[in-house]
Amino acid sequence: MTSDFMIIGNLKMHAVGELLVEYAKVKDKHFGLLVPHPYLVGARKLFADSGIWIGAQSMSAWESGAHTGCVSGEMLKELGIGTVMIGHSEVRAMGEGVAEQLQIANHLGMNVIYCVGEDLLSYEKNTRDELLQRQLSVLPPIANLVVAYEPVWSIGTGKIPSYQDINDAVSFIKQWLSVNMTGNSGGSKVLYGGSINNRNCEEVRSQTDVDGFLIGGAALDPETMLEVIERCK
Ligand code: PGA
Repeated sequence: MTSDFMIIGNLKMHAVGELLVEYAKVKDKHFGLLVPHPYLVGARKLFADSGIWIGAQSMSAWESGAHTGCVSGEMLKELGIGTVMIGHSEVRAMGEGVAEQLQIANHLGMNVIYCVGEDLLSYEKNTRDELLQRQLSVLPPIANLVVAYEPVWSIGTGKIPSYQDINDAVSFIKQWLSVNMTGNSGGSKVLYGGSINNRNCEEVRSQTDVDGFLIGGAALDPETMLEVIERCK
C-alpha cells in the first residue's frame, strides 16, 4: 500500500476470473484489488510482478475452529495475503464481529482497511459523528491502517455527500486517529468510498481532503477503473 493517492477496487461477490486477467495486462499502475476469497491465491500469482496489490474483503471473527465455511486471518497470512478489509457495511450487515476481526488482524500484523460510515437514518438525524466515534473506538493500535469513510447510503446508489460533509467526516476521523492511534507514526490515509466513477472522481478529489478512493461498481470495468486512476494521478 504505497502510492500517494490510494485507489482500491472492491470486487465484492462477483465472478471475477476474466476481469482479473484483464487487469493483469496493466503492469505499471499502482492500486489495490480486494477479491473474493476463492480468487486470492490465483490473483496473487497473476499480479506478482505488477503494481497491483491484492487483499481480502473480509475474514472471520474467530481465530480458528469449528466454523464451517469461514476463512480465518491465519489462513490469509499463510497464503501470503497480508491485507484485509474489515467492517464493510455489507459485511457488518451479516452481524460479523468487527472488533474481534480487528483484534485478530492486529495480532497477525496484517494491513487493515477499516470501513466506517453512517447509514441513512444517522445521516438524516445528524448523528454521523457519534456513530463514527463508536465505530472507531474498537480499533486496536494497528500499525498499517487505512480508514475508508463510506456512508452506507452512498454505496452503489449514485449519491455522494456534499464535499463539506465528506471533509467534515474525514477531518473527524483524522482527528480521532491522531489522538488515539499515537503509535501509528506515518498517519493513516483516510479514503472515501461510495459511488465514485470516472465522471466524478476528479472533482471529489480536488474538492475534498481525501487520501484516496475505495471503489465498488466502477472497478468491475477495468477501462473505467483505469480512467479513474489516470484522472487521479
Ligand atoms: P460503490 O461501492 O463504488 O459501488 O458505491 C463502494 C464500496 O462498497 O466499497
